[in-house]
Amino acid sequence: MADLQNFGGDWTQEKLARVSSYLTAYTNALKNTTFSLIYIDAFAGTGYRNVKSDDKKQGLWSFDLLDEDAEALHAGSARIALETSPRFAEYYFIEQDAIKCAELEKLKLDYPDKAKDIYVVNEDANTAIRHICKSWTRRRNLRGVLFLDPFGMNVTWQTIETVAKIEAIDMWYLFPLGVGVNRLLT
Ligand SMILES: C[S@@+](CC[C@H](N)C(=O)[O-])C[C@H]1O[C@@H](n2cnc3c(N)ncnc32)[C@H](O)[C@@H]1O
Repeated sequence: MADLQNFGGDWTQEKLARVSSYLTAYTNALKNTTFSLIYIDAFAGTGYRNVKSDDKKQGLWSFDLLDEDAEALHAGSARIALETSPRFAEYYFIEQDAIKCAELEKLKLDYPDKAKDIYVVNEDANTAIRHICKSWTRRRNLRGVLFLDPFGMNVTWQTIETVAKIEAIDMWYLFPLGVGVNRLLT
């Protein structure tokens, strides 16, 4: 059981390492173009990844069995995006929880050179993505990455269709296979 929990923690790190590599490859590939690059994190969390407190709330793991290392703070996806070089032009951090949004606002202090380009949106992800996509059609010279990392099945099919219609957004959608799709299949 302890191995299983360690695997969960390692998987999260691997997931974020892959996102980080992708974002770097993405901004490098488009750096000599005229596109403004947008990063949208629709389930942004706090900017930090604390496996123990985040996941315990959702009841996904038995935390009594986790070792102390699992409590360490790691950079979450929002920080990883802000660390990406070359940089994105704008960062949209969407988070439904107001307390987590207050933490996300603090990123502006940690990244003062990017502060004016950081938008923290305290809203449901589906609603916020719809708004962003609406304004996107008026701002043509954009390309973007949308990172969807929900705990559950929070992303509506309509949202995915809206994003697809823009034809300028690379979407990463990490969905919970075990607690989401497998249950819905029945
Ligand atoms: C798995 S965590 C995201 C972790 C983050 N990607 C990271 O690396 O730190 C999912 C987050 O989505 C938020 N959330 C849940 N439902 C939401 C919704 N409908 N809209 C926006 N955020 C939501 C939760 O509060 C939680 O912070």
